Amino acid sequence: MENFQFYSPTEFVFGKDAEMQTGRYIKKYGGTRVLLVYGGGSAVRSGLIARVKKSLAAEGIACTEMGGVKPNPRDDLVYAGIEKCRAEHLDFLLAVGGGSVIDTSKAIAAGVPYPGDFWDFYAGKADIGAALPVGTVLTIAAAGSEGSGDSVITKMEGGLKRGTGSDLLRPRFSIMNPALTCSLPAYQTACGATDIMAHVFERYFTNTTEVEITDRLCEAVLLTMIRETPRVIAQPDLYDARANIMWAGTVAHTNICGVGRAQDWNSHGIEHELSARYDCAHGAGLAVIMPAWMEFVCTHNVMRFAQMAVRVWGCEMDFAQPENTARAGIRCFRQFLHSIGMPINFAELGAKEEDIPKLVETFGIGDGRTGGFVALSADDIAEIYRIAAHAAL
Ligand code: NZQ
Ligand code: ZN
Repeated sequence: MENFQFYSPTEFVFGKDAEMQTGRYIKKYGGTRVLLVYGGGSAVRSGLIARVKKSLAAEGIACTEMGGVKPNPRDDLVYAGIEKCRAEHLDFLLAVGGGSVIDTSKAIAAGVPYPGDFWDFYAGKADIGAALPVGTVLTIAAAGSEGSGDSVITKMEGGLKRGTGSDLLRPRFSIMNPALTCSLPAYQTACGATDIMAHVFERYFTNTTEVEITDRLCEAVLLTMIRETPRVIAQPDLYDARANIMWAGTVAHTNICGVGRAQDWNSHGIEHELSARYDCAHGAGLAVIMPAWMEFVCTHNVMRFAQMAVRVWGCEMDFAQPENTARAGIRCFRQFLHSIGMPINFAELGAKEEDIPKLVETFGIGDGRTGGFVALSADDIAEIYRIAAHAAL
């Protein structure tokens, strides 16, 4: 195991009706004038925004609203939010929604005290030195942004989807009421489940040895997702299954499963080009890319893939030909994704094979290599897109 430092300061407030405490937690973390950020309307329609506003009013907290965040959130609303916060002297960001709303709020939080263009953080030109505090009320188990220091935004000019990270962006608190996720359509539930599993796999496939504790934590999250996802797709209001999935999503991405080990993250980078170009859901893009990446890198460490196959998917170990076991595990993963309604190739996702050169170009690796498990070149990435384009069960 490698040396590590782990800082996860977020206070998680989990359970039924937890959103009624939002005002109390904003007060606890020093907020007095709030920018309330939400998405395309689901939180309004469900009455959640009204309940949250009631809890703010009960604590005497002033609130300005900014709705309309779209999935694969864009820079235009970030600029608008920064302006609003500065003009109205707002001191706290409250995100009510999923990863897109939370990431927009984090970008605004970092942008307000920064004299330059907030995009500098996403372009790798500046580090975040200060940020307004952020709190969240989570409505979808997926991105893990409620417990992470990461934010992913798309710059409309050039269609660049890029991430940044800082412990300063970790939410002060996250309110997590699993009942709020019961209104999710099956497709969004499955996209979220795929993203949660992908966050685990990005950490599971490592070159670091002797990491039994984090291996086992990763496997626990994966086994939970394999059990609970089909249950909530069949019966959306199954509270306890929703609760297990919601906490799995947080555990998958606070990095408690990833400390002390090298991580990869190429599948995420390769996917972000798809969601930037086709505006598909991040989880759906991962369903197409991640098994293709696995097939491409599998021979780098066949025994690690065989371990996944045996421990997670219950495959029989082929001691004479461990690669057979490894590949059987990858097939199980793809079949599972298909069974929960995810796309498994370019056609099902709405992506085009002829765009592969453009996808590789905007990925922006040039002549270099990237990735913590297997360092990939631009040609390797093109090959992964080709495998993904033609994938079949
Ligand atoms: O906009 P509304 O109307 O709210 O609808 C949303 C949206 O259409 C809907 N939804 C959310 N909660 C709902 C609901 N519909 C009914 N009932 C509810 N309770 O779901 C749709 C997707 O929402 P979104 O916020 O986009 O989902 P998600 O949490 O998957 O976030 C995806 C974004 O997070 C980024 C992704 O790249 C993508 O841009 N990521 C962020 C990460 C981070 N900050 O740590 C890590 C991830 O790897 C990921 O890259
Ligand atoms: Zn993700």
